[in-house]
Amino acid sequence: MPEKSRFSGKNLLEGKKGVVTGAGLGIGRQIAYTLAEQGCEVAVLDYKQELAKEAAGLINREFNCKKAFPVVGDVSSQSSLKKPFSEIERHFNGSIDIFVNNAGINHPARVEDLLDEKEAKAALRLINVNFLGTYWCAAFAYPLLLKGSDPIFIMMGSAASIGSEGQGIYSGTKAALRGLLGTLVKEWGATSEKQPVRVSLIEPDYIEETALRSQQYLEALAKSRRTTVDRIGNDAVAKAKVPLQREGKLIEIAEKVVMMALDTYSNGNVEILSGGKTVRV
Ligand SMILES: NC(=O)c1ccc[n+]([C@@H]2O[C@H](COP(=O)([O-])OP(=O)(O)OC[C@H]3O[C@@H](n4cnc5c(N)ncnc54)[C@H](O)[C@@H]3O)[C@@H](O)[C@H]2O)c1
Repeated sequence: MPEKSRFSGKNLLEGKKGVVTGAGLGIGRQIAYTLAEQGCEVAVLDYKQELAKEAAGLINREFNCKKAFPVVGDVSSQSSLKKPFSEIERHFNGSIDIFVNNAGINHPARVEDLLDEKEAKAALRLINVNFLGTYWCAAFAYPLLLKGSDPIFIMMGSAASIGSEGQGIYSGTKAALRGLLGTLVKEWGATSEKQPVRVSLIEPDYIEETALRSQQYLEALAKSRRTTVDRIGNDAVAKAKVPLQREGKLIEIAEKVVMMALDTYSNGNVEILSGGKTVRV
């Protein structure tokens, strides 16, 4: 169940229109919930219809309103995004203020395992969802963001973008978002005809209560690292690697999204939310 933020009751995003992809579960669902809590109307986009409906229903019941609406869309397919984006355009009368490109998947594999046909197929799926999916969403969202009020496009990367044993393709798709960040900041700056669209990237490390802490994922990661779940996955091991001695919380990512939306001079920022684990000074 998503939780209330530190800003609860403040309505910091009253009147804003937001879209969150991959909002049926996990981090995306918490972000959609927090945007609605702050008064933002929100499109809850997911490729699983039942999850999109469930998350939108939960948000509307919680805040006794119609702030959230479900949209079914698979970010990995450019052609199948036309319909969900026209639904969003209609619903929001042609403009968006906050777009959170959160949908993403993982599939641990060592680089040498990619010669296996099944692993190669999974790698292409990762690229299509995490990397190309972000490009498609950026392309569809841009004309709507241009008509928004202080618009921002926020991407969900990962602290694994610096490289991660046993997750080379995942890490690569997330590193690619840093390149896209720089490109979008340059392409979406202000001109005499167009207002700017700000762009930011959040790079979380492990976040508690998410699919990345599931037994299934940990087993797959342990296999790709040629080790055991106990050595990589138990709480004590995970926490000991973090200077803050704990994993991140869903709500901490959602609060960062709210702050980025309000932080009107930040543009092109990478926010690493790893509790200091990935410090490089
Ligand atoms: N959980 C973590 O610890 C962690 C750490 C770093 C980065 N991230 C990133 O945060 C984002 C969210 O992760 P999560 O842990 O909440 O994942 P999750 O698996 O819990 O939820 C992902 C959601 O995205 C949806 N989705 C998957 N593929 C989709 C597609 N093609 N089109 C539309 N929707 C799709 C799923 O149905 C699901 O509702 C991802 O981009 C992930 O890489 C997560």
